[in-house]
Amino acid sequence: MVDLQIRRMSPDDIDEIWRLEQDLFTLPWSKASLLFEAGDHRNALSIVGLDEGGVAGYAIGWFLSDEFHIGNVAVAREKQGRGAGKQLLEHMLREALARGTSIATLEVRVSNVKAIALYRRYGFKGVAVHKRYYSDNGEDALVMFAELDKQGKSPDHSQTSSRGVGDVSDGKEDE
Ligand SMILES: CC(C)(COP(=O)(O)OP(=O)(O)OC[C@H]1O[C@@H](n2cnc3c(N)ncnc32)[C@H](O)[C@@H]1OP(=O)(O)O)[C@@H](O)C(=O)NCCC(=O)NCCS
Repeated sequence: MVDLQIRRMSPDDIDEIWRLEQDLFTLPWSKASLLFEAGDHRNALSIVGLDEGGVAGYAIGWFLSDEFHIGNVAVAREKQGRGAGKQLLEHMLREALARGTSIATLEVRVSNVKAIALYRRYGFKGVAVHKRYYSDNGEDALVMFAELDKQGKSPDHSQTSSRGVGDVSDGKEDE
């Protein structure tokens, strides 16, 4: 289990983040977009998770009206599977709650079983599919939605394998 130190993203982090972004995504964000997200914007939340080796992961989200939209969660390949993704996502959702937001949304590739499992752990459910959303391979996006705990408690970790009523099917079985 990694124990990340999490703080706001700064422009000084972008070289490391840009390297990770290119390694982890087939449609990486541009460096300019990442730099923009590292700026101080009231409706944005951009964080980095640090370990002794530097940036282990990062996450970016936006407050849109009454909803928190997660744009990116990423962990360095060699550090995956050790709890870093959970720490980053949990930090984002706690902050969204602290800012009074009770709904979170995101899109994820239907083949990204790891990420979908992570999001499910925090109460996200598949609610829609955007057909051919990703321009590199025409893959569909699963739209996920979570109602965050209005009491300010920790997001629900108990839903690893549960599926909500009416939940849109997701994961490899869709392909
Ligand atoms: C998705 C991602 C952020 C997860 O980060 P991570 O640090 O590897 O995840 P964690 O170790 O915190 O595990 C979180 C949960 O993810 C799921 N998970 C992790 N590895 C998994 C695997 N190999 N297979 C299936 N589910 C897996 C599990 O539900 C896990 O919780 P559990 O260990 O308590 O069961 C990371 O794999 C990543 O950066 N992937 C590439 C970028 C990406 O696709 N980001 C998502 C864009 S929407």
